[in-house]
Amino acid sequence: MLSQILDDCKNQLSIAVKNKKHPFRLFTLSTQKKDRGSQMRTVVIRDFNQDNLHFTIYTDARSNKVEQLNLYNQAQFLFYDSTRLVQLIFETELISIEEDNYIYESLPERMKKDYTSIKPPGSRLKAPNVVKYDFSRVYFRKITFQSLSMEYLKLKRPNHLRVHFSKSDQWKGCFLTP
Ligand SMILES: Cc1cc2nc3c(=O)[nH]c(=O)nc-3n(C[C@H](O)[C@H](O)[C@H](O)COP(=O)(O)O)c2cc1C
Repeated sequence: MLSQILDDCKNQLSIAVKNKKHPFRLFTLSTQKKDRGSQMRTVVIRDFNQDNLHFTIYTDARSNKVEQLNLYNQAQFLFYDSTRLVQLIFETELISIEEDNYIYESLPERMKKDYTSIKPPGSRLKAPNVVKYDFSRVYFRKITFQSLSMEYLKLKRPNHLRVHFSKSDQWKGCFLTP
């Protein structure tokens, strides 16, 4: 049963990479702030490797998450499927923050805009339609994370199901009190 749960999660995450409507397509990424506390934001899952549980996201090099990950290389991911009432929480470690011109060039223009605003993300604007882009200045970054652990929770009757898996335990898994 434990390995079935892990396999199902891996399958769902792989589907989410391709299927824009999958509930795991968007997830919450939490990183450690420089001074105190953490910062959360929604991101898109861009790649997931079922063999080594590596995740990939895309971002702008000037966003807070990049600075924060460079200072503290651990992050938490929260996935939630409201139809199946399943929550996944991953503890992860940064593997790399890389430029990737091959991926950037393959993106449609509307997506390139997400990584090429002249002003950095979060800077003040007079109005939303005055953002200017410079497609030659590429701030596109691919970030890859290694999963260290995953906690699975499914709400169901009569018994909720909560399972902890960790890399250090070869992803064998153990049941927890929900
Ligand atoms: C639906 C949705 C999807 C998003 N996807 C991404 C994403 O894949 N990568 C990203 O860097 N920001 C994405 N964002 C924006 C982030 O949530 C965040 O506002 C932005 O990246 C600023 O990052 P920071 O908090 O690291 O400064 C998305 C926002 C929404 C609402």
